[in-house]
Amino acid sequence: MKMSDEERAMLEGARGRATQKAMQILAALGTIYGAESLIPVTSVQVAGVSYDNLGEAGLAFLAEIADGGGKSQVLATLNPAGMDIESWQALGIPPDFAEKQLRVIDAFSRMGVQTTCTCTPYLVGNLPAFGEHIAWSESSAVCYANAVLGARSNREGGPSALAAALTGRTPDYGLHRDENRQPGLTVAVKARMSENTDFGSLGKAIGEKIQATKAVPYITGIDTASLEQLKTFCASLATYGGAALFHIPGITPEAGTCKAPAESLTITQADLDIATRSLSDASEDEVDFVSLGCPHLTLAEVARIAALLEGKRVTREFWITTSRPVKQMADQLGYSRIITAAGAKIAADTCCVVAPIQGRFTALAADSAKACYYAAGKNNFKTLFLHSTR
Ligand code: F3S
Repeated sequence: MKMSDEERAMLEGARGRATQKAMQILAALGTIYGAESLIPVTSVQVAGVSYDNLGEAGLAFLAEIADGGGKSQVLATLNPAGMDIESWQALGIPPDFAEKQLRVIDAFSRMGVQTTCTCTPYLVGNLPAFGEHIAWSESSAVCYANAVLGARSNREGGPSALAAALTGRTPDYGLHRDENRQPGLTVAVKARMSENTDFGSLGKAIGEKIQATKAVPYITGIDTASLEQLKTFCASLATYGGAALFHIPGITPEAGTCKAPAESLTITQADLDIATRSLSDASEDEVDFVSLGCPHLTLAEVARIAALLEGKRVTREFWITTSRPVKQMADQLGYSRIITAAGAKIAADTCCVVAPIQGRFTALAADSAKACYYAAGKNNFKTLFLHSTR
């Protein structure tokens, strides 16, 4: 892989051992994927923040980078942590876990990473423009950045995203290159797409069909989609199909430069209904945990939930997960007060998938196809998919 003098100097240790280690990671990645060079990035989002996923080895790696003087060269934010950084006690997080999680956050902070822990960085100030090269990790956010914003990111692992932050570079391969952003399959949607949860079911239905080929879908039959619907769709498509890009004519910015591929498949109302039903295996009575906000909620979604909860009492453990900046706005606008008066909890910085809650609950109710997938796969919960009924 070709390197500039500056990049070569980083690799040889001229900027300290943390930057050297970061450059070694990028050089290895570039070699594996056949990249010819490194390119500058303007924005980074680092996953692998929850101590539940990192463990002691991950914490030691981060501390070593921070101790070695590693400093982020670009705007970098974090994926959700294993707890609300400020109000972890209210979520029942054990103190020994909290102590480790705070050490993880401290290590990132010492590296100059913004410790906004969210999978929707594009809602809270980490918003790349069309065509910008970035290095993000969280699968739903990567899909949103590529498809909806037209920025360019591969789906980075935690260490490679952090390496991009410390050097301001990433290897030039995959979705950074024009030729890999072209669609490989036309997907004709012939189903009613009105509620957010329809987009979660659609992501599952399409995702399972493209999982093997990883073809970029060119999706027809959708005339409108809100920010929330696209956010939901990205999470589901990335989870069930491993997809990091799609195009929808009239909605996503690169669709106009693509031709509909001849190879096609159709998603019918029956396909969508099957996907919806497959997300539930728990009855309402079994549910002992409700979580809304996967991906993290927008302010408009928090407002809607507050309106629905006003004057009522929840009867199960009930989390509403969002970023800290959105929670702060919800505080100012009085939504948080309504939500907590109903007995629900606003869980900022975290979510029901990365928090250490295995064994605490039996069945999760969620309005997210992605949350259902991980509740079963990671935490062994039964699931109830909260979707609209027509
Ligand atoms: Fe975000 Fe957690 Fe869902 S990271 S996309 S809320 S699994």
